[in-house]
Amino acid sequence: MKLGIVILAAGQGSRMRSRLPKVLHPLAGKPLLKHVIDCARQLEPEKVVVVYGHGGETVRESLDNEPVEWVEQAEQLGTGHALAQTLAATDGLDRVMVLYGDVPLIRPDTLRHLNERTGQGVGILTVELPDPTGYGRILRNDARHVVRIVEQKDASPEELGVREINSGIMSIGRTSLTGWLDRIGNDNAQGEYYLTDIIGLAVGDGVPVEGVIIDNATELMGINDRAQLAELEREYQRQGALTLMRQGVSLLDPARFDLRGRLHCGRDVTIDINVLIEGEVTLGDDVRIGANTVLRNSRIGDGVHILENCVIEDAAIGPDCRIGPFSRIRPGTELAGSNHVGNFVEIKKSRVDEGSKINHLSYVGDSIVGRKVNIGAGTITCNYDGANKHLTQIGDGAFIGSNTALVAPVVVGQGATIGAGSTISKEAPEGRLTLSRAKQITIEGWKRPLKEKK
Ligand code: UD1
Ligand code: MG
Repeated sequence: MKLGIVILAAGQGSRMRSRLPKVLHPLAGKPLLKHVIDCARQLEPEKVVVVYGHGGETVRESLDNEPVEWVEQAEQLGTGHALAQTLAATDGLDRVMVLYGDVPLIRPDTLRHLNERTGQGVGILTVELPDPTGYGRILRNDARHVVRIVEQKDASPEELGVREINSGIMSIGRTSLTGWLDRIGNDNAQGEYYLTDIIGLAVGDGVPVEGVIIDNATELMGINDRAQLAELEREYQRQGALTLMRQGVSLLDPARFDLRGRLHCGRDVTIDINVLIEGEVTLGDDVRIGANTVLRNSRIGDGVHILENCVIEDAAIGPDCRIGPFSRIRPGTELAGSNHVGNFVEIKKSRVDEGSKINHLSYVGDSIVGRKVNIGAGTITCNYDGANKHLTQIGDGAFIGSNTALVAPVVVGQGATIGAGSTISKEAPEGRLTLSRAKQITIEGWKRPLKEKK
């Protein structure tokens, strides 16, 4: 079967009250429309077609790399009119499935189920809601067969009592589609070409229509405003947290965990509250993450303990490191393993070998640090001369005294010791003590100034 998937995304989304088109608003850090495109692709269709309209150029540009075909609907004359714009794009296919750019939680399995149940005819996903207000209602005959969909604004009081609603998601045989879309009019309460009218037309033509009722209403929820967006974000996070816990991850409070990307976890990982994971993050076995920590595109090795309030981005942390609290590990950092990085330490674009410690109040940038180096409190690599960045190299077993400024480019030899408070701008030789500071003196006979009497 040659399947085409059409995603309708031309609506304005005015209730978002935003300059950003609705379908570009992020859910779990990813645009709504991208969620739907990713879901569609999992069905391996011949093509995915996106109908864009208002603010559409922005939508197209920001999702430019997506393997989809873009079709413009210049004027939003209704869902039927929107689908009609895609007839050329879906010519020659067997079946067209209609999804919506603002219904992001739909799952591929549900869509496969819809296609299986639909057979050769028309299928629609429906759900029964305690409060169906605003939705199109599914009208069935005495034999429980779907006969028609009526929109809220066109419904009689009796029809308004129906609680089974149209999700809008449909699967339609492509050959009949052109004829039905041709026959849809706009003589209704909203003056729009309703896609839902093809249901009545199909039934009239003797084509079977399958209303597939599903239990999970949130999968079919659309987003109209920011409150609904926040609600679906919570739901998405709740599901994600549940999946992780089932895989053996301990989340101390699943309601205070956010995943905006993908997380791969080893065994017995423990994550404390308010941890935010972004992009692609891998955690090894027995990793513990403290409260209020952000991890972005990073690999964390086995047995690593990250204490509270750390920010780690584009970094690789080797096994058995202890990081934090309050550490910032910036892009391009590689800690080999068994390293200690403490509070108010910032490391950028540096390689630190096994067992080295940077425990307090330091900045290490553009550096290569050997094994078992001890970097004292308040050590700064002065890596920037105002125009260019320069390298600091520190050999194995070196000891850098507190409050040292290492003016790059500079080399500290293996086993070298730097006296506290030094400014090092020339090579410090291997195994020797180097220091650069004024000698301590005590002034004989010196007195503190006194306040002048008036
Ligand atoms: C539609 C259905 C309704 C269903 C509801 C589910 C119709 C006539 N009604 O109603 O039965 O219960 O969805 O949420 O289909 N769009 C376009 N171009 C247009 C109009 C709409 O691309 O010209 C897109 C919108 O961006 C949106 C979707 O289609 O993503 C639905 O449009 P909307 O106007 O919200 O339809 P509803 O009135 O909610
Ligand atoms: Mg709507």
